[in-house]
Amino acid sequence: MTTLTTENLTLGYGDRTIVHGLDLDVPEGRVTAIVGPNGCGKSTLLRGVSRLLRPTNGRVLLDGRDLHQLPTRQVARTMALLPQHPVVPEGITVGELVARGRHPHHGLLRRWTREDDEAVAEALELTGTQDLVSREVAELSGGQRQRVWIALVLAQRTDLLLLDEPTSFLDIAHQVEVLDLVRDLSVHRGTTVVMVLHDLAMAARYADHLVAMRGGRVVAQGSPRQVVTAETVCDVFGITCRVLWQEATGDLSVIPLGRHRPVGHVLGAASSPRLAPELEVS
Ligand SMILES: Nc1ncnc2c1ncn2[C@@H]1O[C@H](COP(=O)(O)OP(=O)(O)OP(=O)(O)O)[C@@H](O)[C@H]1O
Ligand SMILES: [Mg+2]
Repeated sequence: MTTLTTENLTLGYGDRTIVHGLDLDVPEGRVTAIVGPNGCGKSTLLRGVSRLLRPTNGRVLLDGRDLHQLPTRQVARTMALLPQHPVVPEGITVGELVARGRHPHHGLLRRWTREDDEAVAEALELTGTQDLVSREVAELSGGQRQRVWIALVLAQRTDLLLLDEPTSFLDIAHQVEVLDLVRDLSVHRGTTVVMVLHDLAMAARYADHLVAMRGGRVVAQGSPRQVVTAETVCDVFGITCRVLWQEATGDLSVIPLGRHRPVGHVLGAASSPRLAPELEVS
């Protein structure tokens, strides 16, 4: 297992600071979901903890050692990142792309082994992309392509997975499939997962630990039940909402009721959607 922590992590672009002095302790072997509004710094944070972005202050610790002091190959064998907008290399097939996930495991001689074959075959199978193996990645639909990128990340067989919106482009069935897979990896293989999700109900259902961010700072973290409250959603997203918990299953739904300053405020009309009476329960 692998521990990932940040100490006073500060990240930015040029002289603009985006992530402000974050102290994070990612639970080992568990699923952590990061939620927060567009532009609050979620992707920037994942870039920082995966070494794509050098901190302007503070540090990232991987197994207690400064990430930026570690050899590149060791980092690549330990963590795999699914970026929010990965770039498809020109003319590459699915099989070739997923095979690239094995590069960090090869020495100077770059010998392909049976373990590489197994890792690629398993990644294709887990993501249901075996039938696409000879297709060009550029030709695929958004959802097919997303699953191929997830296959690439799985082929790396790392202890730590960093996934930036892994369910984007996926239909509801494939969303559930990918999130089930993420949870299975953590339960059965002890993989530590950090993922960015926009769907609060999905985040609460699949994550053990939630981190809610706003303006590059952590507003709340803890169990889904602790974090997904009407107060925190209001604080983070600026909306009023009703949070419904189903005691029996632990599922929750978030029903938006309106913004603090609804569009009608600007247009000169009061507009706050009303809930059907049957939903007015807790
Ligand atoms: N390469 C970059 N250069 C300069 N500014 C950037 C760069 N990438 C992101 N930013 C800025 O940093 C801020 C945070 O962006 P980031 O992508 O981390 O947000 P996010 O929380 O992932 O949002 P989203 O939910 O829309 O993906 C934004 O204001 C964005 O414009
Ligand atoms: Mg993002």
